[in-house]
Amino acid sequence: MTTLGILGGGQLARMLAQAAQRIGVNVAILDEDELSPAMQVTAFGVTGSWRDLETLGAFADAVDAITVESEFVPAELIAFIEQRGRRVLPGSHTLALVQDKFTQKQTLNAAGLPTTAYAAVGSLDAVKAFGAQHGYPLVLKTRTLGYDGYAQIDREADVQAAWERLAATGRALMVESWVRFKRELAIVVARGQDGQIVTYPVTETLRLNHVCHVVRAHRSGFDHPAKEIGRAVVEAVNGVGAFGIEMFELPDGQVLVNEVVPRVHNSGHYTIEACLTSQFENHVRAVLGLPLGWPDMVKQAAVMVNCLGTSEQMPRPRDFARALSYRGAHLHWYGERACRKGRKMGHVTAVHDSLSEAERIARMAAGDLMSASAWFV
Ligand SMILES: Nc1ncnc2c1ncn2[C@@H]1O[C@H](COP(=O)(O)OP(=O)(O)OP(=O)(O)O)[C@@H](O)[C@H]1O
Ligand SMILES: [Mg+2]
Repeated sequence: MTTLGILGGGQLARMLAQAAQRIGVNVAILDEDELSPAMQVTAFGVTGSWRDLETLGAFADAVDAITVESEFVPAELIAFIEQRGRRVLPGSHTLALVQDKFTQKQTLNAAGLPTTAYAAVGSLDAVKAFGAQHGYPLVLKTRTLGYDGYAQIDREADVQAAWERLAATGRALMVESWVRFKRELAIVVARGQDGQIVTYPVTETLRLNHVCHVVRAHRSGFDHPAKEIGRAVVEAVNGVGAFGIEMFELPDGQVLVNEVVPRVHNSGHYTIEACLTSQFENHVRAVLGLPLGWPDMVKQAAVMVNCLGTSEQMPRPRDFARALSYRGAHLHWYGERACRKGRKMGHVTAVHDSLSEAERIARMAAGDLMSASAWFV
């Protein structure tokens, strides 16, 4: 049997493993935690760090192909695997382009894809100069890695505090004009090694405090013009596998690319139940050089709601019982051993002929578990 190796053992690796196993592919996981979500679903777990070259090399040599579940695996480590003559996708070239949000935007613009105005900034004065030219609010971000590397600046007087906070990370910084978007959109695109492309519907993502809570998918999303943007983005970075493309829809209908994420994406979790072939299976197929599957939706609409930790308290058995009591609510619980505020613990997808009904069901079930905050988005 073919064995696919995955660097990282979180929930994305777990869902990749489940999709791979269903089509007869073994999955090996390399993760430091022997009971991480993906380790729990495979007998081929290796406990160790991919930062250790000896471990990484031996892991790469033992499997047929390798992929990642996180965009943060350093491109040099992917290049190290390529130099051993092992197949690893997406490749180091693609990862290097997208890991730095500044070079990523340059690459997208060079391919004719629109983004908000941005600049690399090496000093506080450079941020102020950008503000004077483009106006406020603006966003100061770290160019690499995510999460805390982000500050919204509403006026020049706030630049210094934001600069000091982010400069303390020691990472290179960039600045972007704030986008007054009408909605945030996302699309998952899968591309094979032969250049074959499968696009899923353009979805709407609802965020609270920048964090995605709800994803709405509808068959009409197959006709959304932003679909072509998704396709062009993946070609621009020469990506192989599943990619998430996050976009801003402006009030006049124009669409800007926010970012491309070189992996399966939260906005595509609904594809497990709602599409003929899920993003996870298509990613596995692409990495292994198999033909890609059809993305057609099996019903008109699907809504996914994340179950985000609200505290360190795990849901109780009776919360699970209630969440499982709605017709058509598909619960995915990732098997994290500890709960933390904001941590993705699971998600619920509902598939229905009516978008509002799918949303009602998914919100009810996820709300029973812990995502009560989802009601505010
Ligand atoms: N220039 C901007 N204008 C308006 N909103 C923005 C801008 N940049 C980021 N945001 C908001 O912050 C969110 C997260 O930003 P971004 O995608 O750059 O960060 P990230 O670290 O990749 O986060 P995530 O992993 O959640 O996508 C966006 O989805 C959007 O809601
Ligand atoms: Mg993002």
